Amino acid sequence: MAEVNNPNKENRRIIIFDTTLRDGEQCPGASMNIAQKLQIAHQLERLGVDVIEAGFPISSAGDFEAVKKVSSELKKAAVSGLARAVEKDIRCAWDAIKRAKKPRIHTFIATSPIHRKAKLKMSKTRVIEETIKAVKLASSLCPDVEFSAEDATRTELDYLLKVVQAAAEAGARTINIPDTVGYTMPVEFARIIEEVRNALTKDVAVSVHCHNDLGLATANSLAAILAGAGQVECTINGIGERAGNAALEEIVMSLYVRNDIYGADTGIKTQLISPTSVLVSRLSGLSVQRNKAIVGENAFRHEAGIHQHGVLQDKLTYEIMTPESVGTKKETLYLGKHSGRHAINERLKQMGVDLKKIDMSSLFERFKTLADKKKQVYDDELLSLVEEQLGSVSKTYELDYIHMLSGSSTVPSATVRLKIMRPGEKDILIQEAATGDGPVDACYRAINKITGIDAVLQDYRIKAVSRGCDSLGEVTVLLREEEDLSEEFLGRGTSTDIIKASALAYLSALNRLEVVKENRKVK
Ligand code: KIV
Ligand code: ZN
Repeated sequence: MAEVNNPNKENRRIIIFDTTLRDGEQCPGASMNIAQKLQIAHQLERLGVDVIEAGFPISSAGDFEAVKKVSSELKKAAVSGLARAVEKDIRCAWDAIKRAKKPRIHTFIATSPIHRKAKLKMSKTRVIEETIKAVKLASSLCPDVEFSAEDATRTELDYLLKVVQAAAEAGARTINIPDTVGYTMPVEFARIIEEVRNALTKDVAVSVHCHNDLGLATANSLAAILAGAGQVECTINGIGERAGNAALEEIVMSLYVRNDIYGADTGIKTQLISPTSVLVSRLSGLSVQRNKAIVGENAFRHEAGIHQHGVLQDKLTYEIMTPESVGTKKETLYLGKHSGRHAINERLKQMGVDLKKIDMSSLFERFKTLADKKKQVYDDELLSLVEEQLGSVSKTYELDYIHMLSGSSTVPSATVRLKIMRPGEKDILIQEAATGDGPVDACYRAINKITGIDAVLQDYRIKAVSRGCDSLGEVTVLLREEEDLSEEFLGRGTSTDIIKASALAYLSALNRLEVVKENRKVK
């Protein structure tokens, strides 16, 4: 293992492989459209990520298109496309990424006994044969191939070593060891990584990909770095399957704050961590928990008197890194009515918004109206104004008009008019009215009548985006479609009027549902 507290050692460069757009997007309800994925990809490149896993091209036509677009637009980062170890996946991944400046095919097969028996129905020998075939095919198409042994941490170690050696001999330049089900422990994972590192030649990079089922994804990734891993796979805000993936911000800042232990650097511009977190949360619809390390709202807030006293004397009493180092400098956290265009432009640029695509005059006007109502306009609120403008590009439903009637002696009723926008068709306005158990229910029933979608509400939450009664109300909904209950769709809406926020949230979830339906259509 690497030595601890050795100030003289040379820093190693750790490759940051971001899978927000692939594993992150597998998070229930988080489906994003192509424009949103592109926006995130550009921001990840700006952030300094080395490899961006843009998607799983064979999984849907939408994913294929998104990976293709990201590949043709990015300039610096390598773009990876995921493929099972089967010919059609690999050829499809290559088709999607071949325009990239630095394309990478990431192919995988499960190696653990349970996966071999229950899922693949393959013997140990067969899994090795398929591995070799897949890596050889991928290498014949693309100079940069990564191989993952899915569920590696529940695989017999001697067998895992055979598989990864076979993959490396067949041409894989990076061998990834995923803790697919978040099962391993730091001490055990370090041992596995040491063995894998020793089984491979130095020119092959060892990578890790940890899930957070036991809350250990970051700890396991860091243990692996100490044991010789040169690449970590992670996502912004730790989003991903089930409990998520290792969080990029946690790994990067751990390496930065405890350089004495790790002696490792990354290419990440840490000041862009917070704006990137806000952008991903906004576009994926997945809120960041308040006490989330590094990017949570409370991460740099000192509440206890004794802590506040200490911080006033010297910040280092209770701060191990500055908020500025991750881009949450207090003064820039919000903008107000005195803020000019320049400040807004700057903040939008930091959050990866492409200013060329925005009508700045109209955005500035909307900003001023909001800032007049409120003392502070937060990043999140600014982004929702941008979304109102940009989102229309791929929205199917847009709220045009809403009227509610409610009171202690009235049956709650709602009249809603929506603009329906379908590619290749003329936009149309449809209005419907409905009654319900309450104003929100009435409004959702009216929307269901218009869209013809029998959406079933799974969850409804409301919170104030900022402080004070002038705050924007933010509603988050989770819904399913009656005819296909297998998938959930998240939606968020903000407005100073909470019924309007509720309608906007519902429509944003329906718009995601439409994206998924579109993505499912065969190429
Ligand atoms: O968790 C996992 O095993 C994966 C692989 C496809 C790398 O996501
Ligand atoms: Zn994964």
